[in-house]
Amino acid sequence: MTSTHLLLLGLIAQSIVVRATDDKFYKPSLDFRPNNITGLWYPLYDWVGSYYNSTFEFELTPTAFSSTNSSFCSGLRNQTLSAKRPSNLAITETSIWNKYPQNPVNLFLTVWPTDYDFWAQSLDSDLTQLPDYAILSSNPVYSQVWSVTEDNNFNLDITTVDASTSTYRISANYTYDLLSSVSLNLGSCDLAEYSDTWIVYLLNQNQIVPDWFNWTYPTIDVRFDNSTANLTIEGQFGATAYDTQGNQTSTWMAGSIKMVFRGVVDNARSDVLVQGEDQPTWLRTLGFGNNSLNLDDSSSAGVMTRPWDKPMAVSAVLLSAMFLYV
Ligand SMILES: *[C@@H]1O[C@H](CO)[C@@H](O)[C@H](O)[C@H]1NC(C)=O
Ligand SMILES: *[C@@H]1O[C@H](CO)[C@@H](O)[C@H](O)[C@H]1NC(C)=O
Ligand SMILES: *[C@@H]1O[C@H](CO)[C@@H](O)[C@H](O)[C@H]1NC(C)=O
Ligand SMILES: *[C@@H]1O[C@H](CO)[C@@H](O)[C@H](O)[C@H]1NC(C)=O
Ligand SMILES: *[C@@H]1O[C@H](CO)[C@@H](O)[C@H](O)[C@H]1NC(C)=O
Ligand SMILES: *[C@@H]1O[C@H](CO)[C@@H](O)[C@H](O)[C@H]1NC(C)=O
Ligand SMILES: *[C@@H]1O[C@H](CO)[C@@H](O)[C@H](O)[C@H]1NC(C)=O
Ligand SMILES: *[C@@H]1O[C@H](CO)[C@@H](O)[C@H](O)[C@H]1NC(C)=O
Ligand SMILES: *[C@@H]1O[C@H](CO)[C@@H](O)[C@H](O)[C@H]1NC(C)=O
Ligand SMILES: *[C@@H]1O[C@H](CO)[C@@H](O)[C@H](O)[C@H]1NC(C)=O
Repeated sequence: MTSTHLLLLGLIAQSIVVRATDDKFYKPSLDFRPNNITGLWYPLYDWVGSYYNSTFEFELTPTAFSSTNSSFCSGLRNQTLSAKRPSNLAITETSIWNKYPQNPVNLFLTVWPTDYDFWAQSLDSDLTQLPDYAILSSNPVYSQVWSVTEDNNFNLDITTVDASTSTYRISANYTYDLLSSVSLNLGSCDLAEYSDTWIVYLLNQNQIVPDWFNWTYPTIDVRFDNSTANLTIEGQFGATAYDTQGNQTSTWMAGSIKMVFRGVVDNARSDVLVQGEDQPTWLRTLGFGNNSLNLDDSSSAGVMTRPWDKPMAVSAVLLSAMFLYV
């Protein structure tokens, strides 16, 4: 390799390491993080707040079955059927548009497939579309499209468990009228053409099970501080079975359901939960380079960008191409 080539490579490498630029549209009055944080998957982490990871555990106890052929499902009756999935809990600032009435925080619980490749998804993705399952206290409003209202899906009550350690409790009734479902492998009815997959609905309306099956709105209970968050949802479920061809059958079961999340804070993606306050408040750190625990804590260091992101890098590449041809 000639020294000219080495020089050219040096020029290209140098131009690729550029300083992350300020987010010109960043506003401290809004709940959005600056948009210049390298490595942050914004569809899940766009808001100031605390983020926790865990395995989400579903525990179902079926007590009622469809009248037709219920006996062949009797092996499942009164059993505790369980399934686990990776999950994320975000407890964040609400936006200034949050209302009817304004919630103290937003709570976004999302459940994902195992080994999910977040970065394979568009950065315009929306949490109402992507996850396998989600409990969202409001439909997320993103920084690119912020001039909309943020209506609450259900109300959250917040109380302080211990102000000195900033431990809070959130309680809610899941009265949101959207019926959402998740596919879980729970075990099969005793029939060769049935698979062990069921589509499970957390009951918040009378649609999946007949009127005689009594249900109440699910309750949500969360306790969180700056290191852990524990969430429990209790209610009733309705589920319909799939056959081995992947077709839904008319067989259903219903009973009680408990969902449990025992999460650990993801400091790389969390702002600082202020200690000693009687309401959750955060000091913003993501994007500002003032918290060494954070991802891309690079207020002074250069960050890697793709060459085509920056006119400077593109011109360097063009320049080097010219060198090669003269
Ligand atoms: C990112 O944007 C924010 C808001 O404009 C700015 O304060 C911060 O310094 C920027 N970060 C970097 C690494 O340039
Ligand atoms: C009831 O189960 C039997 C097998 O045990 C099956 O042959 C029959 O088609 C089922 N009937 C209905 C209505 O699903
Ligand atoms: C299931 O539990 C209910 C009460 O929880 C009981 O009445 C019923 O007998 C039990 N059925 C079986 C098959 O164990
Ligand atoms: C969490 O709060 C405790 C005090 O309650 C403090 O000692 C600790 O440093 C905090 N952790 C983080 C990551 O901020
Ligand atoms: C949930 O419902 C119960 C019973 O109806 C009620 O006492 C409680 O205040 C409700 N909680 C919230 C957060 O609305
Ligand atoms: C459902 O609830 C109603 C009123 O709350 C009660 O009268 C009825 O017995 C309940 N049915 C069952 C199957 O538990
Ligand atoms: C969450 O549960 C764990 C284990 O049960 C416990 O150590 C932790 O203190 C709990 N967190 C909160 C905020 O209550
Ligand atoms: C089951 O699904 C397949 C396609 O996945 C379809 O071709 C077939 O007709 C379905 N069978 C029944 C009984 O609906
Ligand atoms: C939390 O989960 C996200 C998404 O799967 C992952 O990128 C991140 O590394 C996890 N953080 C921790 C501390 O486990
Ligand atoms: C980090 O910097 C931002 C922007 O200046 C500021 O709002 C925030 O309070 C700082 N965080 C801490 C922990 O000092």
